[in-house]
Amino acid sequence: MKRIGVLVSGRGSNLQALIDAARRGELGGEIAVVVSNVETAAGLERARRAGIPTAFRDHRGKKREAFDAEIVEILHAHRVDLVCLAGFMRLLSPVFVRAFPQRVVNIHPALLPAFPGKDAQRQAWEHGAKVSGPTVHIVDEGLDSGPIVAQEAVSVRSSDTPESLAERILEAEHRLYPRAVRTLLAGRWRIEGRRFLVEDE
Ligand code: GRF
Repeated sequence: MKRIGVLVSGRGSNLQALIDAARRGELGGEIAVVVSNVETAAGLERARRAGIPTAFRDHRGKKREAFDAEIVEILHAHRVDLVCLAGFMRLLSPVFVRAFPQRVVNIHPALLPAFPGKDAQRQAWEHGAKVSGPTVHIVDEGLDSGPIVAQEAVSVRSSDTPESLAERILEAEHRLYPRAVRTLLAGRWRIEGRRFLVEDE
């Protein structure tokens, strides 16, 4: 069974989607540990309720590399094969990315490369995009810049507010992330240039 480490800073609804998919046997792996840099993150509580080991490490007052090395140590101790960022609000240093080459993924609430960074749903809405939606991508050393694993289109309606759009994108995230994790864990993929290619697809 492949082992997944999930990193959260907040609400943890994507973590919940992964937990639920794992329970249904649809993830192709198990969640071995959930780590947070926020002690009160609701995601940690979701993990505890599911009986998943948790860890908290404060990032404050530490150099980015030192904090990342602590997290990497926890993930190694739990023999994690894949690291899923799920609302983890810290940029990862090269220390982290190199510890898990092509084995760290993130979900971003816009169709990358459009609207990277914070508040992506509002960025898309303000720009007047007609289509947005989540992207699952491999994490490299840039911001929201690694190879794209999966995306789902969400139409933007005239009646949308940034909040209503974010809500529909979040529903799509909960469908997309477990599916993308399953693909990643199945291992029948390769990266050519920036392109993530799945065999027999
Ligand atoms: C999601 O919108 C995700 O795309 C972004 O952060 C948010 C996390 O939400 N990276 P949750 O903590 O999974 O509910």
